[in-house]
Amino acid sequence: MQSIVKINDVRFGYPNHPVIENLHLEIPRGELVLITGGNGSGKSTVIKLITGEFTPLAGDIKVFGKETLKGSDLQRIGYVPQLNVFDRMAFPVTCLELVSQGLYAHFGFIKIAPKTAKAKAQEVLTELGLEDYIHTPLTELSGGLKQRAMIARCLINEPELLILDEPTAGVDVESKEDLRQLLMTLRSERKITLILVTHELDFLQDSLDQFVKYEVKEGALVSC
Ligand SMILES: Nc1ncnc2c1ncn2[C@@H]1O[C@H](COP(=O)(O)OP(=O)(O)OP(=O)(O)O)[C@@H](O)[C@H]1O
Ligand SMILES: [Mg+2]
Repeated sequence: MQSIVKINDVRFGYPNHPVIENLHLEIPRGELVLITGGNGSGKSTVIKLITGEFTPLAGDIKVFGKETLKGSDLQRIGYVPQLNVFDRMAFPVTCLELVSQGLYAHFGFIKIAPKTAKAKAQEVLTELGLEDYIHTPLTELSGGLKQRAMIARCLINEPELLILDEPTAGVDVESKEDLRQLLMTLRSERKITLILVTHELDFLQDSLDQFVKYEVKEGALVSC
């Protein structure tokens, strides 16, 4: 079976600052992957190499069997970055706007009727238990609900691979448990492949045995 992600001997760094060396990773479809590591060890860098935001200096990376993802292939990855840009937005968007924008991000404004996008966004928000917050500005949501809305924004594109970088930052204990349950549901109902970057393992305790675990250490991914 084709791997969702295949990284072979990748090197990456900033000028005078090597970050990643000898990076190897293979993720089969449906796997739950956990990436841990100390502050500044290179976790987010590994993610940005996978999403194509960074280009390796050496080695090769294939996602869905392709070296570069373009056009509609991009929507096959759902990515919630570590610091989400919506926290810094000048104009607050509502959950509905945020999630429908997820569709436009890949298809452009021409191809999808706003009515269709809204209906789809409403459906995904309801699936994630956000039906009472459809018209609520994102800035008024708690950390946990905001994170859920960000995940909904990804799910509207029905991604095959979902990547969450530190999704528990600024999230209370109860919402962390909700997040764990949501991830397990996405796995069983959507058969999604998941890469979760976190230095917090406590909230995952009940599901930890279902994850394939790696630690970023001295620029490489080490199984643990
Ligand atoms: N744009 C950049 N230019 C130069 N160095 C950078 C840049 N972005 C990150 N780095 C450096 O690369 C290294 C890895 O950063 P990265 O953000 O991948 O770590 P991380 O494991 O995700 O850290 P954290 O736990 O804080 O999220 C760090 O030493 C960081 O200082
Ligand atoms: Mg990081």
